Amino acid sequence: MSNGETFRIGVLGSGNGSNLIAITEAIERGELSAEIALVLSDVKEAEILQHAKRRGLMACYIAPGKYRTKLDEETEKSYSCALQQADVDLVVLAGFMRILKDELLKSFPGKVINIHPSLLPSFPGVGAWKQALDHGVKFTGATVHFVDQGIDSGAIIAQEPVPLLDGDTPESLLDRIQQTEHRIYPKAIADIAEGRIISKGHRTFRSTK
Ligand code: GAR
Repeated sequence: MSNGETFRIGVLGSGNGSNLIAITEAIERGELSAEIALVLSDVKEAEILQHAKRRGLMACYIAPGKYRTKLDEETEKSYSCALQQADVDLVVLAGFMRILKDELLKSFPGKVINIHPSLLPSFPGVGAWKQALDHGVKFTGATVHFVDQGIDSGAIIAQEPVPLLDGDTPESLLDRIQQTEHRIYPKAIADIAEGRIISKGHRTFRSTK
């Protein structure tokens, strides 16, 4: 922790911000001892920015630059600078739909995490719940993982399965997956904040301390 007191989180998102809400509610309930220092989005009108502002959190839009699926070098530097200035201990991707390649991962080594709506390594990338439905698997789920330069390929921190039901539509399945996300993401962040996650190569272990 950088200031020896409060664990500071920076949240990056492009969409609805339901995971941001779950994290803020876990903080309010005292289940996660942390504060959200900054929320950043690459989408000007994203709901996540509105949610953050309504809760009095510092929230900014940073234009994503020239690419469609990643941040260009200069833009990634801007994200990284903003997070450093906010003195964050952990960067939490919550529906941030761009790949991070360099600057940000170098500035926060081992300190960038993501939530993904499948049981990785199955169904990385976009529309993971639709991929699961199309494939006809019986279980999918949600995964919290460290971010590396690959697509949803970093070491897994936490996972929980979600069954596919006969009547599932993409919407009903995503809704159940997200209910799971909202439970496991704040818990995983608390585990990291309390120093309970130990990394060994591509595996992580949860200590009981
Ligand atoms: C979440 O379901 C998250 O797993 C997914 O985007 C959604 C964001 O929802 N992320 C990815 O698919 C990343 N590959 P939210 O904005 O309501 O938290």
